[in-house]
Amino acid sequence: MEKAKPNMSSESIVRLGAIRNVAEFQAHLNSCQLTIPCDSEIQLGLESPLRKPIQCGTLKIGNRIAAQPMEGWDGTIDGNPTESTVRRWRRFGRSGGKLIWGGEAVAVAAEGRANPHQLLIAPHTEKALAGLRTALVEEHRLTTGSADGLLIGLQLTHSGRFSRPSQYDRPEPRIAYHHPLLDARLGLSSESPLLTDSEIEGIIQKFGAAATAAEKLGFDFVDIKHCHGYLGHELLGAHTREGRYGGSFENRTRFLREIVDAIHVNAPSLRIGVRVSAFDMVPFRHDAEHTKNGSPRPGRPDRFEDLLPYRYGFAVNPENPVEIDLTETFRFLALLEEVGVQLVNITGGSPYYNPHIQRPALYPPSDGYAPPEDPLVGVARQMEVTRCLKQSFPSLVLVGSAYSYLQEFLPNVAQAAVRLGWVDAVGIGRMLLTYPEFLWDATEGRVIDRKRICRTFSDCTSAPRNGLPSGCYPLDGFYRDSIGGETLRTLKKSTFKGNKGSEL
Ligand SMILES: Cc1cc2nc3c(=O)[nH]c(=O)nc-3n(C[C@H](O)[C@H](O)[C@H](O)COP(=O)(O)O)c2cc1C
Ligand code: SF4
Repeated sequence: MEKAKPNMSSESIVRLGAIRNVAEFQAHLNSCQLTIPCDSEIQLGLESPLRKPIQCGTLKIGNRIAAQPMEGWDGTIDGNPTESTVRRWRRFGRSGGKLIWGGEAVAVAAEGRANPHQLLIAPHTEKALAGLRTALVEEHRLTTGSADGLLIGLQLTHSGRFSRPSQYDRPEPRIAYHHPLLDARLGLSSESPLLTDSEIEGIIQKFGAAATAAEKLGFDFVDIKHCHGYLGHELLGAHTREGRYGGSFENRTRFLREIVDAIHVNAPSLRIGVRVSAFDMVPFRHDAEHTKNGSPRPGRPDRFEDLLPYRYGFAVNPENPVEIDLTETFRFLALLEEVGVQLVNITGGSPYYNPHIQRPALYPPSDGYAPPEDPLVGVARQMEVTRCLKQSFPSLVLVGSAYSYLQEFLPNVAQAAVRLGWVDAVGIGRMLLTYPEFLWDATEGRVIDRKRICRTFSDCTSAPRNGLPSGCYPLDGFYRDSIGGETLRTLKKSTFKGNKGSEL
C-alpha cells in the first residue's frame, strides 16, 4: 500500500481552477508525484466507460455514475422531508447516475439523529420517504430517458457519538467507548455512561425494522452506515470496549452481523450495502498560529504520543496514528462478502475530526482547519485505497468517494478510474449540490458550465454547524437567495476565527 505523500504548505497549493487544460493537469499530477489516473479524451455515450452497466450475479446497475448520500439537515422537527429535501432528491435523479447510494442519512431512532432536522424513518414519515424516491425516479427519467438499471438505496444511520437530536449546538452523545481525544472535545469524563449492550441490541432491532420499512417503500437496498464516526463506525474501532460489542474483531463487527441477520429474516429480498470509513487517522485541529503572510497555519493532529499504541479507531496504524492501516479493512470486506453484502462504498475518516481526509477541500468548514496537505493528496489516498481493495475483492461492487475536488478534471479522472478497474462506480458528493448532471453532460459531449463547478468552499458543511440547512450557498441560487448566504458568511467568518479546535 502506497504511503500518503508528504505534507505541503497550504500556501503552496495550486488552485485547480487556474489549470488551463487536461495536459497541464496531468503534468501537475506528475510534478506532485501523485498516482491519479487521468484520461486525455472523454469518451461519449455508450462508448464511455462511465456508461457501461455493472452486472454482478443478479445485480444490474445501468451505469458507473453513483450519487453519494448528501444530507441537507432540512427535514421537519418530526423527521419528515421538506420541499428543499424533495428538490435535492430530484437533483440526485438528474445526475443520470444509475446507483443512488442512500439519498442521505436517515436516522433509525429519534435520539440517534445528528441534527434536529435529520430525516427519520418511522411510520409517520414513510409516505414522504416513498415520495422522495418517486420524485427522484421522475427526474432521472427526464435526464436518461428511462429508469432501467436504476438502483436506489436508503442510508440508515444512528449518529452515536455525534448525536444532536434536540439542538444543532447541543451534543447528546451516545458513545460506545471512551476516546481520550474525542471525549475531551465533547466535555465527557471517564464517568460518562457508555451505551450498554442491551441498548445496542435495541438499536439493532431498529435497523432491522427500518430496513423492513425501506423494502416496503420500494427501495432496492439499504446501507448499514459504518462511516464518518457514527455508531457503526465507532463500534468497528471499539478495541477498548468490554462485552459482546467490543475488543476482538468478531465482537466489533457483531453489530453489523446482527443487523444483516435481522434483514435476512425480515426483508429477505432487500439488498444490503455498507458505506465504510475504510481508513482513519487521529483527530486534527485548527492551529491558532498564523504564517508570516498572515494565513492560518495548516491544521495539525491532536497530541497522540502518550496514547501509543493507539487503540481508538478503525484502520489506523496503532504505532503511528497519522498513518492508515488497511489490515482490518481487508478482513472487514471479506466478512461483508461472507454475509452476502455485495455493495460497498469506500470512504474515510470523519467530517467531525479529520475532514481533510474525508472530503478534501481547499477551504475549511467553520469548525475545521486549514488543509494540512494538498487536497489532491486526499483524493489520491481515497482512490488508492479503493484500488487496493478492488484488486482483492473483484466480486464486490465498490463505489469510490471524494472526487469532487477534481473540479474540471473530474470526468477525465472518473473515466480513467473505471476504465482501469480501480473502482466499479464513481460516487459524486458535493458536485451533486452545484452541478448534479456534470458527469452525465460530460459523457454526452455537452459544453461544461464552469460557473457551476464545486470549488470546495465547504459552506455546505459550515451551514449545518451553524444551525442552517446544508446546501451550496455560493453557487446555488436557491440557498443564496432564499435561505441567506450572507448570514452564513458572517457566521463562518466569526466561527472560524474563534475556533481553537476544542469543539466540534
Ligand atoms: C453537505 C454534506 C452532506 C453529506 N451527507 C452525507 C450523508 O448523509 N451520508 C454520508 O455517508 N456521507 C455524507 N456526506 C459525505 C459525502 O457523501 C462524500 O463522501 C464527501 O462529500 C466526499 O465526496 P465528494 O468529494 O464527491 O464531495 C456529506 C457531505 C457533505 C459535504
Ligand atoms: S458549498 Fe458548494 S462549492 Fe462549496 S463545497 Fe459545498 S457544494 Fe462545493
